Amino acid sequence: MNLKQMVGIEATKFIEDGMIVGLGTGSTAYYMVEEVGRLIREEGLSITGVTTSNATKEQAEKLGIPLKTIDEVSHVDVTIDGADEISADFQGIKGGGAALLFEKIVATYSNKVIWIVDHSKMVEHLGAFPLPVEVIPYGSQQIMRIFNEKNYHPVLRTNENGEYLRTDSNNYIIDLHLETITDPHALANELDKMVGVVEHGLFLDMVNTVIVGYDDGPRILTPQGQK
Ligand code: 5RP
Repeated sequence: MNLKQMVGIEATKFIEDGMIVGLGTGSTAYYMVEEVGRLIREEGLSITGVTTSNATKEQAEKLGIPLKTIDEVSHVDVTIDGADEISADFQGIKGGGAALLFEKIVATYSNKVIWIVDHSKMVEHLGAFPLPVEVIPYGSQQIMRIFNEKNYHPVLRTNENGEYLRTDSNNYIIDLHLETITDPHALANELDKMVGVVEHGLFLDMVNTVIVGYDDGPRILTPQGQK
């Protein structure tokens, strides 16, 4: 079993019968979604999924997981998702898979958020992983200019055909190559205020539990003050 599969399966132990579960996106969340499908099929659990991307929706539909949108539920009991980087104080960068907007919306309305990662994602400070910023195409070159002026080293993300990548909401992603983010909250505030920025990949003060995969097994970490 690889580390992503190990943490994906471990996280489903937090799911109880009857729960509404936020289903994350990416190669680690993939294994969690497969296991949710198995729990429904083989163990008869009643679970409703709220997906965070078209890719996860497709996977969940194939597995026969009953789905609702975030607007059709009053809340989400637990969301399980991957992450690109998690700092020592449990702040995160997400959006490597371009699903940050729906991921942040679903996490926001969740009673509990669990991130599942292999140990390579655990860092002292955020920033070595390029920070994704989702922007509306109209005006995106102006945002690029501003990011360049701020020396944020922005790169408009492209797809395998060399075209600008479109998110599930038809927006662009600008990746900021910052190397290190000294004050994540200040940067988040700055990005939140920019016209044309839809969302960014700084997920701050959002996670309740982190499950980290090591060769000798998963470790469950709980930020201070969380249950
Ligand atoms: C997608 C995400 C993913 O959760 C993140 O990129 C981690 O993906 P993976 O498990 O494939 O490394 O934020 O937008």
